[in-house]
Amino acid sequence: MSPVTTFPTKKNMSAISCHNIIKRYGDTQVVHPFDLDVADNEFVVFLGPSGCGKSTILRMLAGLEDISGGDLLIGGERVNDLPPQERGIAMVFQNYALYPHMSVRDNIVFGLKRLKVPKAEIDTRIKEVSDTLGLERYLQRKPTELSGGQQQRVAIARAMIKTPKVFLFDEPLSNLDAKLRNHMRIEIARLHQALKTTTVYVTHDQHEAMTLADRIVLLRDGRIEQVGSPREIYERPCSAFVAGFIGTPPMNLVEMSVHDAGSHFELRGPEGTVHVDARRFALEGRRRVTLGVRPAHLLVDAQGGRGGGFSGEVQLIEYLGNEVLVSFGRGNGNDGKEINEIAALMPSAQCPRLQERVSFVADPAQVHLFDVDSGASLLRADVRLH
Ligand SMILES: Nc1ncnc2c1ncn2[C@@H]1O[C@H](COP(=O)(O)OP(=O)(O)OP(=O)(O)O)[C@@H](O)[C@H]1O
Ligand SMILES: [Mg+2]
Repeated sequence: MSPVTTFPTKKNMSAISCHNIIKRYGDTQVVHPFDLDVADNEFVVFLGPSGCGKSTILRMLAGLEDISGGDLLIGGERVNDLPPQERGIAMVFQNYALYPHMSVRDNIVFGLKRLKVPKAEIDTRIKEVSDTLGLERYLQRKPTELSGGQQQRVAIARAMIKTPKVFLFDEPLSNLDAKLRNHMRIEIARLHQALKTTTVYVTHDQHEAMTLADRIVLLRDGRIEQVGSPREIYERPCSAFVAGFIGTPPMNLVEMSVHDAGSHFELRGPEGTVHVDARRFALEGRRRVTLGVRPAHLLVDAQGGRGGGFSGEVQLIEYLGNEVLVSFGRGNGNDGKEINEIAALMPSAQCPRLQERVSFVADPAQVHLFDVDSGASLLRADVRLH
């Protein structure tokens, strides 16, 4: 892409404030009181499983969906009752919804023409926007004569040309193949670096969320589960739900019993044992916890399991290139209890064989503990990020 012309926005003109926003369809409430402040120029990603309310909230921001309660402010102004075209937002959808009979150029300027923007200004803006998105060569073509990625760029151009205060994206890349998705993700990141337009971006792809977001808003059943930088969410998940949702391959989560060993706690389960630092976790009086440890944080145990840790026979090996994901354990313990399979990442050069016995210890600084019922993290608030 060529260098980008920046469109001026006044300070704080594009901050978004959601105060206790709710959404009801008839008797069903699908968004529970939702509170969020998005700063000027910030890139916020809504992430969460299907049906958690991401699109509904985005559509309320856009004005495409009524707000059942609460206040929505854009640039300090309450916009609950403003129609979409007066909110200063532009939205890009998963389906680019381009007009097939119009040229790329006409698709891009369609909205401006409707707003009766003078022709000279339209010409200037289309030049800037098509330069920015590398679309000059395609302006006379029809959308059907473009690739999926090019079509999505036209949809972004159509949004950009309105010089919006806020960009809203709803899964804009889900129709593209993996390679194009990657490419467009990088283009969107570059575009935001250059334009700095306040952006809310919906996805259920955690890779997109982690790489694009200043902050991720993780949603579950119409409620915010956690808000934080990608690093905070990855390193300090506030619940077992977040811990299990973020990170590939997913975190191992197993229930274990708690034994006070004085200077530390020992956690025991049919899968193995783990020592945890009593200063890191609020474990007093607890008999059971859910342990979370990512496959990358299980280290090959030179002692072969004699000092605790997790041991078992290799059940499955997934070759990932530089690393292999080794799943081991599973089956029934001596007491007949079911043993969960544990997955560990290790260098491909050390790849074990199927059925071979392997032993790992959990890196004590990378262990997570959660309440078995509520799933809430038991990490003490004053423990610092490493
Ligand atoms: N018009 C409607 N009437 C009733 N319920 C609706 C309506 N639109 C959405 N819902 C419900 O609201 C909830 C949130 O839907 P929403 O489309 O916001 O989910 P989402 O997080 O965007 O999911 P996805 O990742 O599948 O796009 C869902 O349970 C859905 O069934
Ligand atoms: Mg959706």
